[in-house]
Amino acid sequence: MKIGIANDHAATDMKKQILEYLVEKGHEVVNYGTDSYESVNYPEFGEKIGRAVASGEVELGIAICGTGLGISLAANKVHGVRAAVCSEPYTARLSRQHNNANVLAFGARVVGIELAKMIVDEWLSAEFMGGRHQDRVDMIMEIENRP
Ligand code: RB5
Repeated sequence: MKIGIANDHAATDMKKQILEYLVEKGHEVVNYGTDSYESVNYPEFGEKIGRAVASGEVELGIAICGTGLGISLAANKVHGVRAAVCSEPYTARLSRQHNNANVLAFGARVVGIELAKMIVDEWLSAEFMGGRHQDRVDMIMEIENRP
């Protein structure tokens, strides 16, 4: 799968480890994040990963900052994006199955690398269930079209 990944300075190490993990698993990964530890602004990277997913440049996105919150809030401002902050695998799985999340976010200051890998695995292996969940996701997306 072609996956985008983005991060700010708080998540540079975790981004590198998750990127390597995904490549080892055979995914193609596009890096939209910073590779530096210099302070940057997470909205810039949230927008980048959001636009990459919304345009179809990548199928899914992973966004990491200190908490996962700032970068997900920014990504969610891009039309078509459903970014979900997940600190454990159960929420990650349900965010795909029920909410059809197309961006997974988590915090490098919140979860350790092994838990982060479990969250990523669960998220990538889960499939959207459609049906009544599709109706609800449609309702979410319709909000974007109202003034
Ligand atoms: C950066 O210090 C921090 O604010 C950022 O990584 C993130 O946690 C924001 O939501």
